[in-house]
Amino acid sequence: MFNPSSPYHEPGFGAWKQRLGALPSSEVVIREAEQTAQDGRWMRWMQADCESTNIQSVEYNVSKIEQQLVLLAEIADYPVGFCCVLAGRTNSDPLFIQLVAVVPAARQRGIGLALLRAAAVRQPQRNIAMATLDDNVAARRLNDRFAQSIRGNIQRVPVRRFRPSDLGFAQGEHHHPWMIDRQHEAD
Ligand SMILES: CC(C)(COP(=O)(O)OP(=O)(O)OC[C@H]1O[C@@H](n2cnc3c(N)ncnc32)[C@H](O)[C@@H]1OP(=O)(O)O)[C@@H](O)C(=O)NCCC(=O)NCCS
Repeated sequence: MFNPSSPYHEPGFGAWKQRLGALPSSEVVIREAEQTAQDGRWMRWMQADCESTNIQSVEYNVSKIEQQLVLLAEIADYPVGFCCVLAGRTNSDPLFIQLVAVVPAARQRGIGLALLRAAAVRQPQRNIAMATLDDNVAARRLNDRFAQSIRGNIQRVPVRRFRPSDLGFAQGEHHHPWMIDRQHEAD
């Protein structure tokens, strides 16, 4: 039976999934998401394919794209990852990486790192904050590699330092925040 809250039977989802199973080795392209139903739908399908991400409606995703920076990673025009980023309210606030996700078929080929680096170059003056679950080995390794790649110093910060909503998680979730200090990047 058709379930409107499930993307699995939406037209095109199956073809996209099939395509992920035979991804070409072409380079990944990172671009800013546009406020279109198509990009909102790509995000929804990737949310469905990635563990640890909530599946949102197309409308919700389009409003997210409207309100903040969303980057999409594509291989041969097919989306394989995305990243949601929020600049803090004041100039001295960090850039919050709220979510980075790469579909399982495209993991461990540098796409998560490419997404984070693309976010960082758009806000070179800001330090960078993100939160991870302690047992998310992939995310923690990604964050360490990211900090290293921008010559930043990553450190754990107290849970209350930032609002959970800025970090992209809900009250009661047990994520731990991290901060990358970028003062060495320009040396
Ligand atoms: C976390 C995630 C985005 C990583 O994406 P990715 O494209 O595979 O990451 P990269 O290929 O850029 O890898 C970056 C580093 O992390 C390492 N890494 C990635 N996945 C790993 C894993 N499962 N175990 C150990 N190390 C891992 C890579 O080897 C690389 O380190 P290296 O350069 O020293 O080899 C992806 O696993 C994912 O989407 N997970 C589900 C969503 C999630 O948990 N997001 C993070 C919280 S917001």
